[in-house]
Amino acid sequence: MDTNTITEIIILAAGQGKRMRSKLPKVLHCIAGKPMLGHVIDSAKELDVAKVHVVVGHGADLVKKEFDDPAICWATQAEQLGTGHAVAQAMPNVDPNSIVLIAYGDVPLVKPSTMASLIESADEDTLSLLTVFLDDPSNYGRIVRESGKICAIVEEKDANEEQRTIQEINTGILAVTAEKLQEWLPRLSSDNAQKEYYLTEIIAMAVKDGMKVIAQHPDSVMEVEGANDRLQIAALERSYQQQQALRLMMEGATLADPDRFDVRGNVTVGEDVFIDVNCVFIGEVSIADDVTIGPNCIIENSCIGQGTVIKSHCVLENASVAENCDIGPFARLRPGSVLANKVKVGNFVEVKNTVLGEGSKANHLAYLGDSVLGSFCNIGAGTITCNYDGANKYKTTLGNNVFIGSNSTLVAPINIGDDGFVGAGSTVTKNIPSNQLAIGRGKQRNIAGWKKPVKS
Ligand code: UD1
Ligand code: MG
Repeated sequence: MDTNTITEIIILAAGQGKRMRSKLPKVLHCIAGKPMLGHVIDSAKELDVAKVHVVVGHGADLVKKEFDDPAICWATQAEQLGTGHAVAQAMPNVDPNSIVLIAYGDVPLVKPSTMASLIESADEDTLSLLTVFLDDPSNYGRIVRESGKICAIVEEKDANEEQRTIQEINTGILAVTAEKLQEWLPRLSSDNAQKEYYLTEIIAMAVKDGMKVIAQHPDSVMEVEGANDRLQIAALERSYQQQQALRLMMEGATLADPDRFDVRGNVTVGEDVFIDVNCVFIGEVSIADDVTIGPNCIIENSCIGQGTVIKSHCVLENASVAENCDIGPFARLRPGSVLANKVKVGNFVEVKNTVLGEGSKANHLAYLGDSVLGSFCNIGAGTITCNYDGANKYKTTLGNNVFIGSNSTLVAPINIGDDGFVGAGSTVTKNIPSNQLAIGRGKQRNIAGWKKPVKS
């Protein structure tokens, strides 16, 4: 392919997917938290494609709504008359000088590199086809060769007994010039077993026109596996997760069990990271060197600094955790949690929209919301920032070295100066200047001679 050639992709996504037994159009079913169609679109975008065309039909409105993206060029196929007919619907918007890659919205795991090599090998004289060899080729279109050269694709329902033994199958993914498509598509007929306009008929047309038809193969069969039912979705999901696990292990993470590990987004890891079983990573997550993550943690859109230990059962969302922190077990860092180096957040502590300065600790049972804590503060068990009056939210600000005794409520808005000290069980409603002790609780009285009640 010469470097000036424009590439466009047409993704077929008009089919219903009856076997999904779902209200949702098939291509909106997710692999790793992302609709199958989204995987194909994202892979296409990794290549230098000029335009992404998506052909929709069943549930078109739902699909378009899900991908509210001006970069996508939608084509509607009102009736599903076959793959050839589907491609034809997109053609009016395709640049006649481009190379077109055809892909399926329900075949989500095709690698960008596989797409790229198909595109690169296609030109005005060459049609490039992605094929694989299967032990059980049933239901697929078979690649018919004569003296080794591809001459046609025959669909299973139209194949004779001999052709059905062919193990090389059509994945459906191919690259060809728009010019040729424009010439061939109007000539497709529906004179076949399924009364459909088969895209696969263009192979014989290409051969007749004296073009070369070449086959390329993906690195693994899973790349070209489609999903027609929820069992196949589950198989694709596992395959995808295994790939992610493999990648993270190569980058330096030990996974306690690569089969009990889920990535739903983009995760980067440093070296000597340890991830225990059943952790789920969502969105953009970055994990630095020497981080340890205990079992059953959910980490979403967060970054974890070097040497931090996250113990079991923690939930982090939009949190930023610096180096050598100690979190959990059972801690919850909600959006806007920012932890400086060596912060400790222990069990049953909830943090939201709060900055904890270096070395500060909230070791047990606390709620810190809309707060800024300086360095080396100590938050006793049962401390609650009362940030909400039922209508508005208010801020709590602590200086450095502040000590909050257990079971205290800090009624915001409130400021506590450096080295401020709150006696246990206090309800604090007024600012505390630096170096002062605040006690806000009923005075204790001991009553002598008191008698325990007795049963009557
Ligand atoms: C197709 C190929 C077959 C190949 C197989 C690989 C044809 C004629 N056959 O068969 O050679 O082995 O894929 O999986 O191309 N679609 C539309 N509109 C339509 C028909 C299909 O958008 O009118 C979309 C579907 O949503 C799906 C894709 O095209 O994403 C393939 O359709 P499907 O019905 O699965 O094709 P097969 O008959 O399995
Ligand atoms: Mg199919």
